[in-house]
Amino acid sequence: MKKNVRKAIIAGNWKMNKTRPEAKALLEELKPLVADVKGVEIVACVPFTNLETALAATEGTNIKIGAENCHFEKSGAFTGEISADMLAEMGVEYVVLGHSERRQYFNETDETVNKRTKAALAAGLKPIVCVGELLWERECNITEEVIARQIKLDFFAISAEDVKKCVIAYEPVWAIGTGKTATAEQAEEVCAFIRAQLAKLYSEDVAEAVTIQYGGSMNAGNAEELVSKTNVDGGLIGGASLKAPDFTTIIKAAENG
Ligand code: 13P
Repeated sequence: MKKNVRKAIIAGNWKMNKTRPEAKALLEELKPLVADVKGVEIVACVPFTNLETALAATEGTNIKIGAENCHFEKSGAFTGEISADMLAEMGVEYVVLGHSERRQYFNETDETVNKRTKAALAAGLKPIVCVGELLWERECNITEEVIARQIKLDFFAISAEDVKKCVIAYEPVWAIGTGKTATAEQAEEVCAFIRAQLAKLYSEDVAEAVTIQYGGSMNAGNAEELVSKTNVDGGLIGGASLKAPDFTTIIKAAENG
């Protein structure tokens, strides 16, 4: 296994947090703390209203900016939605897709996640596609079936070349915002399973190239152990990404991991 062929990506998912002045303050605090970080891609995925502020605050730095969703149509009568082209035109690089909160509260399905992923790729964005099982599904011992289905459907009819541009975030739903982190072994087990699915659907080469993150109550205290695992190439961080020192500790753990 060649973990060293993949660059670790530590992405913050700010969710529905921070006004523009707060966003600017957080990024200004983060910038000097991570200025010397090499070998880890640092991303802040922020609410739509903060994108312009975040892009301006991070211009010329090693912090990349992402959005938290995009619609699958290019334009049209979709009140309240934002297209992938709109994000790309701003200079946004990443977009979180299929987050479990979108699936749970906004009725997103694997079919729409697949359409959004295709739209994001067509616009030149790098999708961070989230997959993960519910607690009930883990208890019923069907985690692998759930993940295999999500990977198959979310990446349906997406070429090998395009899937290499994607990041996959394994976020067990029971670990999100609950303080219950998956153990490093559980995270590694499912991330390795995702890689095996990619090898089956595409090839070993594709599987080795794709960055697979863990997400779910990842914090300054547990990041090091999680990212030390062979198939865990970084993290998608919610709560802890809102505190610059904690987010920095996680980034530095990935630098060493
Ligand atoms: P927490 O880190 O707050 O558990 O959130 C994880 C997450 O959902 C990141 O997308």
